[in-house]
Amino acid sequence: MRMPTSSGSFTITKAVIPAAGLGTRFLPATKAMPKEMLPVVDKPAIQYVVEEAVAAGLTDVLMITGRNKSALENHFDRVGELETTLEEKGDTEKLEKVNFSTDLAEVHYVRQGAPLGLGHAVQRARMHVGDQPFAVLLGDDIIDSRDVLLSRMIAEQGLRNASIVALMEVDPSAAHLYGIATVEPTDDPDVVRITGLVEKPTFGDQLSNYAIIGRYVLQPQIFDVLDNTPPGKGGEIQLTDALQELATNNIAGGVFGVVFRGRRYDTGDRVDYIKAIVQLAVEREDLGPELRPWLKTFVATLD
Ligand code: G1P
Repeated sequence: MRMPTSSGSFTITKAVIPAAGLGTRFLPATKAMPKEMLPVVDKPAIQYVVEEAVAAGLTDVLMITGRNKSALENHFDRVGELETTLEEKGDTEKLEKVNFSTDLAEVHYVRQGAPLGLGHAVQRARMHVGDQPFAVLLGDDIIDSRDVLLSRMIAEQGLRNASIVALMEVDPSAAHLYGIATVEPTDDPDVVRITGLVEKPTFGDQLSNYAIIGRYVLQPQIFDVLDNTPPGKGGEIQLTDALQELATNNIAGGVFGVVFRGRRYDTGDRVDYIKAIVQLAVEREDLGPELRPWLKTFVATLD
């Protein structure tokens, strides 16, 4: 059901999470297990992303999956034998952890079919999403739950009736890893209007330091644009290219960026993944007190 808000737009309820990637950077860990299930401290990476969607009010989650992804479905489903064992032991703390991910959201699944790129993965959500604005969350990026991003993007979508992407300033040496935006200021220091986008520009060719991080709130017109988006960088159908079309032709309100200055953890690369675990673990009340002094001593032993 579409729910009009006070600004005349519609309440966003749907989150799309592309999760069909092969995770080859983490082989052999990902030979038989989806990369989204790799633990970040003690939770699979994908759970942080679903929790973020739910915290922003998006309880209808569609995952775009592929082969070897059944562990994802199992993680968000009941697990009778384990529940019974924990119940019999009276271990309510662990039982709550198990049930939390089961009850977190209404999770749906569709397979991507062929690995034709992020734009193609998003296109597979069309039937489920219909003609409402929706969010896309990429699983490699974890946004610290203490910092606001997605709810702000949803509010901007309602206010501007446009598509919204999350931007972060990155070092020019890292620009070739991201979709890079050229922008103009708006009257809001946290929001910019996007005038152009390039997917992973060659080093030295990037037009700004504003990189797309993996959060989008999109107008449904993106689907029509994706239908006509030819393969781009790497021979894949790129979401960035479809957004470039929306931005330059001002389709469905154009594209705006919310500039994020909070804590983001990248779990898509092995070194960043290890950094994410250390950063999140030292701040945890249950693990930090033991880990911090050990880490200091350990670091002192390094050259
Ligand atoms: C994708 C997008 C890219 C974006 C990035 C954010 O790339 O194509 O535009 O900047 O996510 O993490 P990937 O990292 O999947 O190669």
